[in-house]
Amino acid sequence: MRKLVASTLVAAMTLSVVGCSQSTGSQPASGGDGSSTAPAAQAPAASEGNPKIGVAIYKFDDTFMTGVRNAISKAAEGKAEVDIVDSQNAQPTQNDKVDLFINKKVSALAINPVDRTAAGVIIDKAKQANIPIVFFNREPMPEDMQKWDKVYYVGAKAEESGTISGQLLVDFWNSHPEADKNKDGVMQYVMLKGEPGHQDAELRTKFSVKAIEDAGIKVEKVAEDTAMWDRVKGQEKMAAFLAAAGDKIEAVLANNDDMALGAIEALKAAGYFTNGKYIPVVGVDATAPALKELEAGTLLGTVLNDANSQGRATLNIATALAKGETPSKEMIGFDITDGKYVWVPYKKITKENINDAK
Ligand code: GAL
Ligand code: CA
Repeated sequence: MRKLVASTLVAAMTLSVVGCSQSTGSQPASGGDGSSTAPAAQAPAASEGNPKIGVAIYKFDDTFMTGVRNAISKAAEGKAEVDIVDSQNAQPTQNDKVDLFINKKVSALAINPVDRTAAGVIIDKAKQANIPIVFFNREPMPEDMQKWDKVYYVGAKAEESGTISGQLLVDFWNSHPEADKNKDGVMQYVMLKGEPGHQDAELRTKFSVKAIEDAGIKVEKVAEDTAMWDRVKGQEKMAAFLAAAGDKIEAVLANNDDMALGAIEALKAAGYFTNGKYIPVVGVDATAPALKELEAGTLLGTVLNDANSQGRATLNIATALAKGETPSKEMIGFDITDGKYVWVPYKKITKENINDAK
């Protein structure tokens, strides 16, 4: 059955990649499928000498990844011809797209895995075809990263973002005694988790709570559920938390901004953020819509997940590898750890330093 689905997909994807991929390397992604851009064969002569890089995003319909995608397109201008495809949140689809890139003989791959445990299979294929590969945003398992020296990863230390989001609540709690609504000296919180198994979801959840406890504040988890990085799901889960626990909740931790924004919607519907009814909500990413809520005072704070630097570093490493060069700090602008990892730092964002995120 699996095989059948996979081969049907190969056929379908062959058509869609040829027809819909973004091949000129000079246009920022628009959030659509890029079908209006010219196919590679009609690319301007000036870019003909540039290496071709196959890029697969886990799904286009993700706010933060759209930022990374746009950054890759922009960084490629004049340097590389990027073909950016949507894996539509399905690993078999992504595997087929990788096969197509290999068949097309791209000079490097940049892959944002759907399922990070599938990276090993992709590495095996790339190695066999001698096509260097850069993973980004979803970290492959360490043993897979060791499979080949032409495998790199660009991301951010998830622990760091967790710690910072916890600290945002600590700062608030310590300066607002009224935050402890039931006066029991304990912070009753709810957690909106990203996709289970994703390093950012697991570690942000763990380290945000740890940061609060490390500051000497007792915590009680009132509820936790995954909202899969998604705004609408965040709203639904928060509405359910409110229906079940209502006034008991004193703080909302969300693994990303989209879920935090969904939570804010649900809170508004329950009468929060008017007539002095308030609850602190923190997120991660510092997306444009989140910064608006920060300005409006509904989002307490967020953590800058630097899409521009991550996209640029990914493209620069892929381009260097495509040209047969060994990526260096000078080329990338960031240290390369253990010969294969680039860690882009996070940053705490509140109303005070909102311009650092804009
Ligand atoms: C995280 C980001 C989320 C989501 C996820 C996708 O780093 O915070 O919003 O985009 O990556 O893998
Ligand atoms: Ca309390």
